Amino acid sequence: LAPTVQLSGGAAMPCLGLGTWPLKGQAAADAVASAIGLGYRHIDTAENYRNEEAVGEGVRASGLAREDLWLTTKFNREHHSVAGVREACEASLKRLGTDYIDLLLIHWPNPDQDRFVAAFEGLVQLREAGLVRAIGTSNFKPAHLDKLFAAGLVPEVNQIQLDPYHRRDDNLALHAQKGIVTEAWSPIGQGSALLDDPVIGEIAAAHGRTAAQVVLRWHVQQGQVAIPKSANPQRQAQNLAVFDFTLSDAQMVRLDGLGRPDPDMLDADRFGH
Ligand code: A2P
Repeated sequence: LAPTVQLSGGAAMPCLGLGTWPLKGQAAADAVASAIGLGYRHIDTAENYRNEEAVGEGVRASGLAREDLWLTTKFNREHHSVAGVREACEASLKRLGTDYIDLLLIHWPNPDQDRFVAAFEGLVQLREAGLVRAIGTSNFKPAHLDKLFAAGLVPEVNQIQLDPYHRRDDNLALHAQKGIVTEAWSPIGQGSALLDDPVIGEIAAAHGRTAAQVVLRWHVQQGQVAIPKSANPQRQAQNLAVFDFTLSDAQMVRLDGLGRPDPDMLDADRFGH
């Protein structure tokens, strides 16, 4: 099982989970049940992925007790109000077939409508009401977080795109300062060129590991939560097996050095999820 990271609100979140975008229907249910069978205890979904019902099916098929699982979901832009967030949460609970959510996130800041502060106030009320255990944001840049801070609000988690090629040093510094846990989506770079990087390959060979394992280890070793997506049981197992080796400080520094600053990477229009 993956170790947990402590959130500021008190909950302990497994530092490695299964990403489920863009899986849908039976494929999503099968991937979730397979992952839980392999030892995953954290599943990440979203209203926008249109797979919450399938995720719920997979969880039930696995037979795992609800309290042994961490479930994260996210809501869309049309719910950015106190009442809207409650409705969004209740709809997610119904689709997932459960009576609480471990972590509920504002999926995107949608600064064009400028209502994410009200949305976050809605999240605070849901946490007080016990419908969600922890609350946070996704794809929030420092300017968006600063608006929350100005209103006295601090997310427990900010889920952003992050891998050794896609660095967000400005986000990370702010998260550290405010006690926000960083969660990485597409942590292995969507399985693309990153996994063919010669530096990563060299480090992987030195440990007898795969490139994906080295990248996931880089995330969790610095206290980040990572949610790699895989529908393939062998790759799911591989991605969870990153807690029995350690990268040296020099190897961590080499991986940090692969960073390619991309200031526009959090712009909502660029992503389907
Ligand atoms: P698959 O589902 O066939 O395993 P990310 O989570 O960074 O967006 O990456 C997801 C992509 O990476 C998917 O296409 C997934 O394909 C692939 N993938 C997941 N795990 C691995 C792995 N260990 N090695 C290579 N590719 C992987």
